[in-house]
Amino acid sequence: MTRRVNILSDDFRANPYPGYAELRRNSPVTQVEPSGLWAVSRYEDVAFVLDNPLLFSAEGIQAVWEPAWLGYNPLAHAMASLDGPRDAPLKTWVSQSFSPSALQRLEPRVRQLADILSDELLSRKSTDFIASFALPLPALVLSDLLGLEASDYRLFKNWSDDFACILPKVPSEDALRLRNTVTRLTGHLTCLIEQRRLTPADDLISEMLRDDLPGPVPTDRERIELLTLLLVAGLETTVPLLANGLILLAHQPELLAQLRADRTLIPSFVEELLRYDPPTQGVLRTTLEEVEISGVSLPKGAGVLALTGSAGRDERQYPEPDRFLLHREQSSIAFGKDSLTCLGAPLARMQARIGLEALLSRFEGFCLVPADLTWNKALTVRSLHALPLELTPVRAGALATSSAWVGSP
Ligand code: HEM
Repeated sequence: MTRRVNILSDDFRANPYPGYAELRRNSPVTQVEPSGLWAVSRYEDVAFVLDNPLLFSAEGIQAVWEPAWLGYNPLAHAMASLDGPRDAPLKTWVSQSFSPSALQRLEPRVRQLADILSDELLSRKSTDFIASFALPLPALVLSDLLGLEASDYRLFKNWSDDFACILPKVPSEDALRLRNTVTRLTGHLTCLIEQRRLTPADDLISEMLRDDLPGPVPTDRERIELLTLLLVAGLETTVPLLANGLILLAHQPELLAQLRADRTLIPSFVEELLRYDPPTQGVLRTTLEEVEISGVSLPKGAGVLALTGSAGRDERQYPEPDRFLLHREQSSIAFGKDSLTCLGAPLARMQARIGLEALLSRFEGFCLVPADLTWNKALTVRSLHALPLELTPVRAGALATSSAWVGSP
């Protein structure tokens, strides 16, 4: 019997793309570690899984997100882990919160934060880019949006990292920590909901408490489940998107020069990045009946990991898939497919665009500092713990600086 690939091993994590190519070539539908999940690696098959909610259930995620050793996990009951119509009232409400007009109102604040954070980098020769920029930008935006204490953002990130790493089996010392995290986050969100019930503010938590929301009034438990999803989805994805973008620009200075010369190319850069090195590498489903994919028969109830990160590199779908091509026209599958697409995609794109604009107007070079980079061990999102970078500021001319304070990143 051939040994199963472990997609969470350190080597695989450090660079999953050669491993994905091997899977696509030799075993496009195969069981992998951890947990014997069925990994699906070709674009066409990944799209088939995502496009067929009657065969592949999102609720199956619960078996992974809510193992017996953990007990209740709010994330396992939030909308992304439920099968249901795209136009369910709560989904409509969330998508309105990230609608073009809502984002237009938010944009000046995102720009202000990006300016402040990148101004602060000007005083440093080197930095951990994640701690100083890639994390605080989306975390402070999310704090504003939801109505969380800005000074708590590192605490929320630690909690959301824990949620992302929940697996059917974990070492016992991790199990204790993860159980505590669930208790602490739900306790914290319960208190915030209570506070807003007494004193409403201009934020999503207060909005959620209005009794004129479309559809049935959510319970506090449902509010906590949605807030947990927004936190984890918002923090675990935009942070690595920004970090992966900077790694690429450090490796490809000619690309950096091209973007600096024409900032209107930044949205195309972000789109190609979502294909080439996306933060979300896979989505989880369970088969609702016996299903055949690429000639392999999966039993009913099988856990499926549709490898969107591999789909983005599939040679059958993208010519020269391992090259980063700024003007590539085919879009990626990074935000999911029709039946379940990312409701935060417009926000993620905006933060990446504005973050890069702020950085590229202040720095003309980024260089990776040699270090042992370590990656998280999550099934769906892939993220570095730290990214040491040397920064070369733009030489000529004075740079406008902002004196506002946003908390020391
Ligand atoms: C680059 C950043 C992001 C990527 C790559 C991404 C990717 C995804 C993917 C692939 C899904 C579908 C999961 C599935 O099919 O099981 C999803 C769902 C979702 N994402 Fe994102 N996401 C990103 C950023 C965000 C942000 C910033 C937010 C909000 C703060 C967000 C909120 C959501 C929500 C609420 C859902 C569930 C949608 C539903 O149930 O209909 N995401 N995301």
